[in-house]
Amino acid sequence: MKQRGAGGRWTKESDDIIRALMENLEHSEDRLQRVKDLLALRPERDGGLQAAVSYLRTEVAHYDWVGIYLLAGERLRLAAWDGPEATEHTDIGIGEGICGLAARTKQTVLVDDVDVRSEYLACFPATKSEIVVPLISGEECVGEIDVDSDKPSAFGEEDREFLEAVAALLVGAYFK
Ligand code: SME
Repeated sequence: MKQRGAGGRWTKESDDIIRALMENLEHSEDRLQRVKDLLALRPERDGGLQAAVSYLRTEVAHYDWVGIYLLAGERLRLAAWDGPEATEHTDIGIGEGICGLAARTKQTVLVDDVDVRSEYLACFPATKSEIVVPLISGEECVGEIDVDSDKPSAFGEEDREFLEAVAALLVGAYFK
């Protein structure tokens, strides 16, 4: 629905909102193309996963830590990450943490405030919100992208759509 100001008039605010949405959309398209190009240059999986996490972390301001976990039996093992510090959670059970929840349900999980989720496994004191996006190949979860942000409620539908598209690119490149 179109955003209108008081009295139904088009306002500068409406213009600003639409401009911001369009810019984000263009950003996401450019970023997806960039990820595609990065992966095409890296036929070897580990190099491709590392290039993807490093790109995402440096490109998107609110992505403070980015990791990719891969499923090994009933465990999620950290395969690549980029951020200011290493996490101690390099091996997570399917029933544990937000990561385990996303793998078990095969659904993206957005957490606006990590402090109110009892299952949350804390990695970094600065983290306030998190998104975990599963990598789905056929019917199977083969891994996931985990992004932490130092800002509360940092992730929205745009991040979900963008990261799910990145996940599909990763699956297409390395898990078919
Ligand atoms: N917070 C995650 C664990 C991984 S760290 O964020 C790197 C969880 O609750 O599963």
